[in-house]
Amino acid sequence: AITIYVEQDNGDRIELEAPLDMNLSVMEVLKANEFPVQAVCGGMAICATCHVEVLESHGELPEMSDDEAYMLETLPLVSDNSRLSCQLRLKEDMEGLVVRIMPEA
Ligand code: FES
Repeated sequence: AITIYVEQDNGDRIELEAPLDMNLSVMEVLKANEFPVQAVCGGMAICATCHVEVLESHGELPEMSDDEAYMLETLPLVSDNSRLSCQLRLKEDMEGLVVRIMPEA
């Protein structure tokens, strides 16, 4: 397993253990830990209700698909480090990843 972090509005970081052997996405880990991520489409990159901002990453993140880029473009509140967390499949070099859950539109 790796450890990833969710930064709260007050700057505190909540540590989450993310198993590598279940082919989970960051979205699924967030949901499993009861963070308020709706993920309405279930991980198909068509709802954008799993939007996060990546604050720190220490390895390469999965490349952004056209679908993901398109969805992010539809959001009013995006940053250069915005990603759809359902498209971030956990892998070893995501150890130490820090995300912030973005408010929904
Ligand atoms: Fe719908 Fe990620 S869960 S875009």
